[in-house]
Amino acid sequence: MFTNSAHIYDAVYSFKDYEAESARVHELIEERLPGAATLLDVACGTGKHLEQLRAWYEVSGLDLDPKLLEIAKDRVGDVDLHQGDMTGFSLGRRFDVVTCLFSSIGYVGTVKRLGGAIAAMAAHLDPGGLLIVEPWLTPDVWVVDRPHLLSVDEPDLKIARMTMSGREGRLAIMSFEYLIGTPAGIETFSERHEAALFTDEEYREAFAAAGFVVEHDPEGLIGRGLYIAQSAR
Ligand SMILES: C[S@@+](CC[C@H](N)C(=O)[O-])C[C@H]1O[C@@H](n2cnc3c(N)ncnc32)[C@H](O)[C@@H]1O
Repeated sequence: MFTNSAHIYDAVYSFKDYEAESARVHELIEERLPGAATLLDVACGTGKHLEQLRAWYEVSGLDLDPKLLEIAKDRVGDVDLHQGDMTGFSLGRRFDVVTCLFSSIGYVGTVKRLGGAIAAMAAHLDPGGLLIVEPWLTPDVWVVDRPHLLSVDEPDLKIARMTMSGREGRLAIMSFEYLIGTPAGIETFSERHEAALFTDEEYREAFAAAGFVVEHDPEGLIGRGLYIAQSAR
């Protein structure tokens, strides 16, 4: 997925306010599980939520991508970071809170793997623990053949990322073309991402099957909604 673009991930997503998002996540946890002390961020990417959340929790991270994890290691070197697949991982310990943010869950690709991921996260929660999942888009809102441009314009880093949206069955296809300008020259590359368009019912069924009681905040952190699920005590 991010194999070609890992080195510019933070620049591409520099518009995201990780500090405010993490503060909101902390607030949601405090309201439901005051005294929560340990937190695992699944699909932690470059560790920008971990960097903030460690102010309140003893944090750990897990991600599939070794290049993104390397960046996370540089950012939060003292944090316990693991390489693994969210659809089937075992860290041998449990947490008060598990998060899976910025629509990473969509990358699991199928309803069966969604169930596997929610079950694996559930298996890492203490009784009464919280699972907070920021979903990817639902099938009804995904528009195909829509070009999108993201640009970064810093003194020594210029990025133009053109995306064309597509769809194959339940998968949203994002075909990215990158142009990166630095003092070393201009680099171009492509990347294709596939993220499953799960329905609200499919998310709810996956949470119910893993024994959670789930709430849905339609706005969430960035307008994509947020599932807040609590395991049985
Ligand atoms: C959009 S990024 C979000 C990263 C980070 N949570 C953030 O907010 O910046 C999606 C992340 O999901 C990770 N990912 C995708 N599939 C995964 C899987 N099966 N298991 C673990 N991580 C996965 C990617 O490597 C990437 O870090």
